[in-house]
Amino acid sequence: MGIESSCDETAASVVVGSKVLSSVIASQTAMHEKWGGVVPEAAARAHVEAILPVILEALEVAKIGFQDLAGIAVTNRPGLVGALSVGVVASKMLSLELGLPLIGVHHLEGHLVSPMLDSEPLPYPHMSLIASGGHTEVVLVRAPFEYEIVAETLDDAAGEAFDKSARLMGLGIPGGAAIQRAAPGGNPRRYPLPRGVPDHPDAFSFSGLKTAVLRAVEAAGPDLAVADLCASVQEAIVDALSRKVLALLEQSGSSCLCLVGGVAANVALRERLGAGCDFPLPGDALLHGQRGHDRARGLAPTRGGISG
Ligand code: KG4
Repeated sequence: MGIESSCDETAASVVVGSKVLSSVIASQTAMHEKWGGVVPEAAARAHVEAILPVILEALEVAKIGFQDLAGIAVTNRPGLVGALSVGVVASKMLSLELGLPLIGVHHLEGHLVSPMLDSEPLPYPHMSLIASGGHTEVVLVRAPFEYEIVAETLDDAAGEAFDKSARLMGLGIPGGAAIQRAAPGGNPRRYPLPRGVPDHPDAFSFSGLKTAVLRAVEAAGPDLAVADLCASVQEAIVDALSRKVLALLEQSGSSCLCLVGGVAANVALRERLGAGCDFPLPGDALLHGQRGHDRARGLAPTRGGISG
């Protein structure tokens, strides 16, 4: 059983090999929406309420009992301390009570291996873009558990840039999904926004983007063209990420790119990266997306050379 409570979702899943027998997620999005972001103390309390029902439902959906489990894996870092400790304490309790091994999992390592769930094994080396609310890193995975960070953000994460921009425009959370919904039909060239540090092939920077969005919002006042600004923000982030990821991919010689973390749900990003990969299409090499996130956010997985 895998258990996760690092931020605002309480999740439990039963996995056999790479096959997912159940995946139950209790999301706190609706609760945090009224505060405009995740409130750590409230998140921890909501995890306390959700953790046991979620674990029980994961067993029920998988049609197994506690006695059938062979081990417990739990996200133990990084994340919100109060939120993390709920999953860790519940997992320790189960492992002691049931006499099962307990494995602490680094949150980012969980992202990196997620494309292998319900899927074929990945070729090595492969490259992964981790783009979430707290992290933006390009990782070259040379072999199982052998990672090299080949690029990372100097300041804000890509998801954070989406979230802060959405907040400045008064849109809901998660900000990336809200911007993606508002962007279609908008003019991505209406608001010129910075691309971070274009001359640094191994670094991203998104802190200037939120300042530029703030200035655009203040300058436009009630005349703000929300769809245009959303399209411009999405284009700035997708452009900044995809140029460097594709260049690093080419340099690495790898023919497999994985896209993981919440921002992997962004269709524009998937399409740009998919179009830039000159891989032979599925069967030989794949661009992996993170379908779990897509399902959680109600997006259909993109087809056509993209699998995961
Ligand atoms: O991986 P994740 O669920 O949680 C962690 O941060 O670990 O990622 C959350 C991030 C948020 O910043 C959210 O705005 C972003 O993923 N996100 C999206 C989309 N859906 C969620 N960003 C862009 N487009 C989306 N459709």
